[in-house]
Amino acid sequence: MNDIIEARTQRTKWFLESRFGMFIHWGLYSIPARGEWVRSTEQIPEEDYLPFFKEFDPVNYDPKAWAKAAKEAGMKYAVLTSKHHDGFCLFDSKLTDFKSTNTKCGRDLVREFLDAFRAEGIKVGLYYSLLDWHHPDYPHYGDTNHPMRNHPECSNEGRDFSRYVEYLHGQVRELLTNYGKLDIMWFDFSYGEMSGEKWEATKLAKMARELQPWIVLDNRLEVGGESYGSITSDAPSIYAGDFASPEQMIPPAGMTDIHGNSIPWESCITLNDHWGYCAADHHYKPAKLVIRSLVECVSKNGNLLLNVGPNAKGEIPEESLEILKEVGHWMKGNSESVYGCGISDFPKPEWGRYTQKGNKVYAHVMEECINAVAVDIAPERIEKARLLADGSEIRIDKPWNAKAFPTTTFFTFGGRSFPLPDAADTVVELTLKD
Ligand code: GLC
Repeated sequence: MNDIIEARTQRTKWFLESRFGMFIHWGLYSIPARGEWVRSTEQIPEEDYLPFFKEFDPVNYDPKAWAKAAKEAGMKYAVLTSKHHDGFCLFDSKLTDFKSTNTKCGRDLVREFLDAFRAEGIKVGLYYSLLDWHHPDYPHYGDTNHPMRNHPECSNEGRDFSRYVEYLHGQVRELLTNYGKLDIMWFDFSYGEMSGEKWEATKLAKMARELQPWIVLDNRLEVGGESYGSITSDAPSIYAGDFASPEQMIPPAGMTDIHGNSIPWESCITLNDHWGYCAADHHYKPAKLVIRSLVECVSKNGNLLLNVGPNAKGEIPEESLEILKEVGHWMKGNSESVYGCGISDFPKPEWGRYTQKGNKVYAHVMEECINAVAVDIAPERIEKARLLADGSEIRIDKPWNAKAFPTTTFFTFGGRSFPLPDAADTVVELTLKD
């Protein structure tokens, strides 16, 4: 392992053990409530967006309640949008007036978030948008995403991109200097020409490492959510990041480098179909799917960063809280099969998945079977089997009709295997003999 990769391995140790985090997309866009891209998708001019800035007043913002919800769901870290593409800052930046402290609420929302989550023992990260649709020096006309992209009158003459880059570096410096230890910095995102050195990414990554040597960086100074960049190579660029960030999907076979070795990765996934609050979007994923997706990530050596989009009052939607509660209920009994676990030595079974930590193999049974569940591990290799949720013995028996399969282990739940004790995912802890 070379030095760059060794350092990455050290930095991401806690991150990969944590496996489950909360993403929080919150900003002015919670008022129009049509998602965080609303300014771009509807090509809203600045003057029609500014009223939301004047109006913003999340009276029910209670980051302690958010932190409790994350903790109860079993999440070990959280990442909040300190600035999204619309340029609005949730922190008290000296470099702009377009910030939460200048709205009616007058609060540094980032600082309160950090205090509350740290108090619950949750690691903290900040998302920072590289795009900025508010800054006058960011390209307008002809840019791929800018709300004014189709307006020749918003020509880029006189816009000085280097001034924007200075602003971007200045704000990142503020975040990394004024807010204590940050565990993650989540930059978003590169596209086309707007990538890498266009952001002066070498300088930026060096500054981040200088100010916060242990900070974990994502890979989007180099790429967008659809590709991975040099993180998969033997010689990752200095801004290649510490983990890959597949978006709204779980990579079919996890993420590996060019030699097939696992690299750190995290799938970020929404609970409904939007990151920012969308009032009309009730297409929420059931807890069962969330649990199974988390297990899928872990079984492929990855993390799940699950998003919530608080509303204009500062509340996480009730539907999201309900799902988090259910996930938390499952995690209460089964989190040992998640934290610190990863890909198993045994191939994926037909009825579900395995996760593994040392000599503990966790059989995640998700499909009902006729009579016994068949495990492709020889019975002599298994010391004992326990239902993870309550620690009760799972007897390993050789049913009369399975004698022809001596190298397969069979178990049932008290003589049967349907219905499963937990319809979302019944976890059996198999302790292997040394
Ligand atoms: C995207 C979107 C964005 C969201 C992010 C999360 O790149 O632009 O709105 O914040 O993905 O991964």
